[in-house]
Amino acid sequence: MSTEKIILDCDPGRDDAFAIALALASPGEIALLGITTVAGNVGVELTQRNARLVLELCGRPDIPVYAGADRPLNREMVDAVDFHGNSGLHGIDVYEPANPLQPEHAIDYLLQTLTDAEAASITLVATGPLTNLAIAMERAPDVMARLKQVVIMGGAQRAGGNITPAAEFNIYADPHAAARVMRGGVPLVMFGLDVTHQVLAGNAEADNMRRHGGVAANALSGLVLPVSEEHVGPAQTPLHDPCTIAWLLQPELFQTRLVNMEIECDSPLTQGMTVVDMRAKTGRAPNVLWAHDVDGPATAELIISRIMAL
Ligand code: BDR
Ligand code: CA
Repeated sequence: MSTEKIILDCDPGRDDAFAIALALASPGEIALLGITTVAGNVGVELTQRNARLVLELCGRPDIPVYAGADRPLNREMVDAVDFHGNSGLHGIDVYEPANPLQPEHAIDYLLQTLTDAEAASITLVATGPLTNLAIAMERAPDVMARLKQVVIMGGAQRAGGNITPAAEFNIYADPHAAARVMRGGVPLVMFGLDVTHQVLAGNAEADNMRRHGGVAANALSGLVLPVSEEHVGPAQTPLHDPCTIAWLLQPELFQTRLVNMEIECDSPLTQGMTVVDMRAKTGRAPNVLWAHDVDGPATAELIISRIMAL
């Protein structure tokens, strides 16, 4: 494959760190141009710091990091500190890295980069709430239309929710932004809990990374904190966010279907639910390439082995 140029919009976040590391571990296939961060798992002042720290730990402090939206469009902020810790990177020692935050706002960086690039030459990978994308789409839809595609970790159908019974965290955290992105007219590819709950790592993988991996794997191994709270089995944790990068590397690991997806924004019971029309019942135009199945063990192996070799 030719090198995929990506911008990663994220909220690190333990599994976001693995998405960053996997991208850096795949220089033959992926060129990470920059990272934009958003409020999500923790506040944006921490997600931007964590992105810079992960880049430093991976030996790539040269990649620029831009801070974006500090709150959702139209709801109070929800975080995920119960899972990611107060720092956002529970499981490793966190400190202020040497590489500086860029002065430009994330949305200005994104729009300028797309304006300067050839049309359809950049993929945006989004592994946090979709606030930055939604604001950029509102501000400059013609510029965002220059994206090749947006590859998103978010949503759930069969799996049910992980923050409420109906909703997955990234979509619940800013459902209005997600709804706007669904209507944005840019090709979307989505990896929700239906697949990410099959891509698992536990103590064996963490030990392997620590003992046999390179410097970056060793530094990040503490982030594989096995939990059973997501009901995916004991002592394993889902590698949600790196599934996006894994698909760019080896799309044959996933089964996908072009579907219509709408986001529930208003119902107190199901806010943030992704309504996936798998059987084309609604007659609404398809807007998302939805990953509904995955070879979980092979995808986990791809993620861990690449990061170990970084
Ligand atoms: C998603 O929510 C966040 O907590 C994770 O980083 C991931 O992006 C999983 O629902
Ligand atoms: Ca995330």
